[in-house]
Parts: sequence; C-alpha cells; structure tokens
Amino acid sequence: MASAPLSGIRACVFDAYGTLFDFNSAARQAQDTLGDKWRQLSEVWRSKQLQYTWLRSLMGRYVNFWQLTGEALDFALATMQLDDPALRDRLMNLYLSLDAYPDVRSMLRELKAAGIRTAILSNGEPKMLASAVSNSGIGELLDAVLSVEEVGIYKPHPSVYRLAENRLTVARHEICFVSSNAWDAYAAKAFGMQVAWCNRFGQAAENLPEAPDREIRSLAELPALVLAVSSP
Ligand code: LAC
Repeated sequence: MASAPLSGIRACVFDAYGTLFDFNSAARQAQDTLGDKWRQLSEVWRSKQLQYTWLRSLMGRYVNFWQLTGEALDFALATMQLDDPALRDRLMNLYLSLDAYPDVRSMLRELKAAGIRTAILSNGEPKMLASAVSNSGIGELLDAVLSVEEVGIYKPHPSVYRLAENRLTVARHEICFVSSNAWDAYAAKAFGMQVAWCNRFGQAAENLPEAPDREIRSLAELPALVLAVSSP
C-alpha cells in the first residue's frame, strides 16, 4: 500500500468503536468479576454485535445499536454460562463510558488546528455516542456526530457513508474516512471516499474489493497523511 500523503482532504470522518473508543475497556473494567474470562467475553460480544448489524440489515429488521449491543451481550454471557443480571447491567453501563484510545485527542487537535473538519460516522445509537464523546472530552474537537439511526440500516450499506457526504456538504473524494474495522474501510472506499485503515490490531488485509488507500498503525500517523504539505 502507498504511503504518500493523500491530496485534497477537507474532512476526516471516523468510525467510533474500535477506532476512537476502546470497546474492550468495558469487559476489562469488570475484571474483578470476570477474571481472565474478560477477553473471551469481549471478543464474543463484539463479534456477535457486528454479526447482528449485518444480519439485521440483510433481514430488514433494524433495531437501534443499544438494543442490539444488549442482545449480543446476552448471547456472549449465555455462551460463557454467565447468568448474572447485575453483571449484564454493569457491562452495558460501562459501554456508555468506553475509554478513548490514547492517540485520539492530540490527533483531533492537530486536524482542527489545520482547518480540517472532523466527524464521527457510526453504527452507535445517538445517546451512546454522545455519552462516549462527552466521557472522553472530545466534543469540542468534532464538527458532527452522525449515527446510522438517521438511515435505519447499518454499515456497510452505502446510505450510511452518503450521510457523511450530505451532512458535511463535502464531496466524498474530499473526505478521509478512518476506521480500524477493515471491512468498514473497504466499504467507505467502495463508496468513493479516500480511506485510511488504522490497523491497530495488526490484522491481515481483507479479500474484498476496494482496498483502502493507506494503512496506518496508530491515529498519530493520520495528520501527516491528510495535511497538505505547503510547497517551498
Ligand atoms: C461503528 C462500529 C462499526 O462505530 O465500530 O460504526
């Protein structure tokens, strides 16, 4: 994959969970109850959550991401034979205050200082997103927080990516979409955005059409990729 800076970027649009907010931090914070099982619980919870977004979208049976996240958690708890309603409530509450990754705030500050518009585009239900944004103190660094709730279908449906183009009134090729979820990055590229895949977890590339334009390992690498270098 190329490494030269992208050109003509006016806005950066971020996926939320896994990209800005650490979805593992909910189960990790319940380690006192879960012990070593927190990792497995978090993995099953996240993968079932994503599967439900895809399955419900294909079935035409949308429910909001809060309900869906709870249903995925119920599956994960049942899989691990953890029948504990208090633990379920605690984990759902922790999901509202996920930690932001340490590279988020300074990166957003740098982009804003350079006049780049910034937004979240997420499956998240608006109140969940508002809570995560306020908990991590990045609200003043974002121009918009956009939820699939407005279109009633989950990523990777093209109408989700169109929402960012319409609401930011920036052409799709002037947007750098940033996601740690590879499938999300490929889908945004297929829609026509420029795309940086933040491969935090060192995953293999997908065998899907429309590979992202750039691969980075941390969001700290993003400003150099999107800020135009002024000519001497
Ligand atoms: C989101 C999921 C895909 O925030 O992480 O949209």
